[in-house]
Amino acid sequence: MPSVIAIDRLSHRFADGTWGLREVSLAVEEGSFVVIAGENGSGKTTLLRHLNALLRPTAGSVRVAGVDPAREPLRARLLVGMLFQDAESQIVGETVREDVAFGPENLGLPRPEIERRVAAALGRTGLAHLADRRPHLLSGGEKRRLTLAGVLAMEPRVVVCDEPFSSLDYAGVRGVLEALISLQGEGRTVIVTTHDLDKVLGHADRLVLMREGRVFREGRPEEALASAGECGVKRPVLDSRGVRGLTWLS
Ligand SMILES: Nc1ncnc2c1ncn2[C@@H]1O[C@H](COP(=O)(O)OP(=O)(O)O)[C@@H](O)[C@H]1O
Ligand SMILES: [Mg+2]
Repeated sequence: MPSVIAIDRLSHRFADGTWGLREVSLAVEEGSFVVIAGENGSGKTTLLRHLNALLRPTAGSVRVAGVDPAREPLRARLLVGMLFQDAESQIVGETVREDVAFGPENLGLPRPEIERRVAAALGRTGLAHLADRRPHLLSGGEKRRLTLAGVLAMEPRVVVCDEPFSSLDYAGVRGVLEALISLQGEGRTVIVTTHDLDKVLGHADRLVLMREGRVFREGRPEEALASAGECGVKRPVLDSRGVRGLTWLS
């Protein structure tokens, strides 16, 4: 499988002089499920924000399906759907249905196509029965799935989720996880950051461990996991199922 994301010696220096990233190189295979882990401040969010041009490289380069987000931010944002850490800030509609329709409407798509996409996104995230609900009445897990539905309605090739499980209860985590797995099942690339590998590593094809703005280790989960401790990430307790047992769905 070819790489859908190619990052080459990417460095980012913030205005105050802080180096958020230092010479990060990473290739992400199309259709893979990638988990990025590392302690607070290791650079996970800074890395993701380069994929859709919310930040631009100080040095090095980023390509998403051949597109340079710094030069063509709008094209990059169609390729990469991003779920931010703060779900509430991403909700704009009066109802669940309107919120999900917002992105496709902005693309100027014909009404039947908008309705098809909204129905598909609500179905995939298990929110169809809440289509007419006001978003602020949703639970934390439902709000997270609503922002995911909004991302899905854009039909991005790459779905990026920054700490999608934070402050969710068990059912909330399961709902988001199921949605992410079904996305990968339809051929999309899924990238998730977390500091809690127990929930999701069993579904990952690759584990990227970050430390101090660098990729400290990257590889198949069962191998890269050996370096978790050095990156300040809690090493999960493995049972007889090994890494494959690391999921909240089993
Ligand atoms: N806007 C900013 N200005 C200055 N430094 C920042 C800014 N955003 C993040 N940083 C710094 O960049 C580093 C990486 O941060 P971040 O990518 O948010 O880490 P993570 O998402 O892994 O917790 C940290 O040292 C953080 O303090
Ligand atoms: Mg972060």
